[in-house]
Amino acid sequence: MQALKLFVVAAFAVMISFSFFHSTKVSSQVRQTTDSNDRFLPRTPVEVERQSASAFSAQAATTTTTLTVTEAPAAFDNKTNGYLTQGPAFDTLNEDTVVAGRSFNDNRFIFEETEIIADGLGPTYNAQSCRECHQNVVTGGASQIAEHRTGHMTNGQFFEAPGGSLVHSRATDAAIVERVNFQDDIRTFRISTNTLGDGFVEAIANDTLLDIRNAQPFSMRGIAITVPVLEAGNIGRIGRFGWKAQHASLQSFAADAYLNEMGITSPLFPKENTSGGNDVSAYDTVADPEDDGDDVTAFADFMRATKVPPRGPITSSVTAGDSIFRQIGCNVCHTPTIVTADPGTRINGGAFTVPAALGDKIIHPYSDYLLHDIGTGDGIPFLPTSDYAFSANTIRTAPLWGLRTRNRMMHDGLTFTLQEAILRHAGQASAVTARFQQLSGTQQSQLRAFLNSL
Ligand code: HEC
Ligand code: HEC
Repeated sequence: MQALKLFVVAAFAVMISFSFFHSTKVSSQVRQTTDSNDRFLPRTPVEVERQSASAFSAQAATTTTTLTVTEAPAAFDNKTNGYLTQGPAFDTLNEDTVVAGRSFNDNRFIFEETEIIADGLGPTYNAQSCRECHQNVVTGGASQIAEHRTGHMTNGQFFEAPGGSLVHSRATDAAIVERVNFQDDIRTFRISTNTLGDGFVEAIANDTLLDIRNAQPFSMRGIAITVPVLEAGNIGRIGRFGWKAQHASLQSFAADAYLNEMGITSPLFPKENTSGGNDVSAYDTVADPEDDGDDVTAFADFMRATKVPPRGPITSSVTAGDSIFRQIGCNVCHTPTIVTADPGTRINGGAFTVPAALGDKIIHPYSDYLLHDIGTGDGIPFLPTSDYAFSANTIRTAPLWGLRTRNRMMHDGLTFTLQEAILRHAGQASAVTARFQQLSGTQQSQLRAFLNSL
């Protein structure tokens, strides 16, 4: 009990420093960052991105405002949500006819494109196209592909593996394939997440995420982490993408993925990765930046134009399971309903304005996009500094939309059944897990039926 209280106090202290005072200071004595980590320091506090109504309850939103909020379009159909035009028939596009930015189909083609060494692939990388890891059941979805991160602790401080915690699984030459050092005994897999519907998630106002956090009971309260929007000169915004909520903008994430998954540099990430800390420029034939930024914008706009994952059939067991999900408190972290910011709201530090297709939309992501310690933490913090040490054992609430398309669950992809996923929830979710265990067999199966409808 004492330990739990201490944890709660610590979590609250972190929360205060991150979100009320918007602390961005990093003490110099303990700072162990490299250039590439400096890139990840927010330069300013988060900006107010106010939502005109209570945005995490559709009911409140529709009754307290005259604005029209509507459900976001949902389907696995490779069709635009309205943010971009659909464009020329997809199967008529090829490398010569595709035009970055012209339409949903053009940008999807670029998201699916297989990169080769002449395009800048590698020297160290994980896969050749965004689609390779984001494809199930349509382009942009999740997949079973996991990436590998490692590091170690010395005197209570986390150190990343040489060259960064991400250990690439492939290289363009056998001599530079990255290996794991035995000293780096903190290791984890992080499985590929879904990006469908993420344009709506990007359009959630900072203030909405803070309102969700503030309404959570103290012992289950999440942490809102402030991260830099790279295309806005590192202006701070509440992170929401990735297992550590490490990005707030899809453009920043896309540039990060282009470098760190595929080895392709772009204006926001102009410097190549190493192989275990060793320079690999001898293996790199293409001048940096390898992409002038057009591909990165096409990836971001493709994801912004995707529809949200649709629900499966709603049976009577599903409806019963839905009520149980709320009664036992799963919904505290897995927030069922959020409304996006009004069209015209400036977000991403001013770099993006919410368009009509993405604004005032009701979404059902079943996530608060906040970090929680439910006892599954992988030990690897957002940045290897003492300021971010708190993030080592916190994970973003996994959004449950599209869950029925995933058969490997949790950040490491090492949980294979819903029952085991639920029972793995400890820490801040302990009380909810205990309530789950008290349910009858029928109630538990109704809850699983509900989860299988997401
Ligand atoms: C080798 C597999 C792989 C490739 C290739 C890849 N990704 Fe990912 N992607 C992942 C993994 C793994 C995560 C979760 C990473 C994490 O949070 O640590 C992820 C997460 C994301 C997210 C965050 C989604 C969310 O809400 O959590 C976005 C956005 C994204 N990727 C975009 C891209 C884009 C754009 C490309 C192509 C430039 C790309 N990815 C290429 C594996 C991949
Ligand atoms: C205190 C917050 C919290 C509560 C309460 C909570 N969860 Fe979670 N849930 C999380 C976090 C955080 C993760 C991601 C953990 C990880 O990957 O290590 C997660 C992951 C999951 C996953 C895996 C999804 C995937 O795609 O990998 C499922 C399923 C799930 N939760 C269902 C539930 C159910 C059902 C309940 C209620 C019995 C519940 N959760 C209660 C925070 C919570």
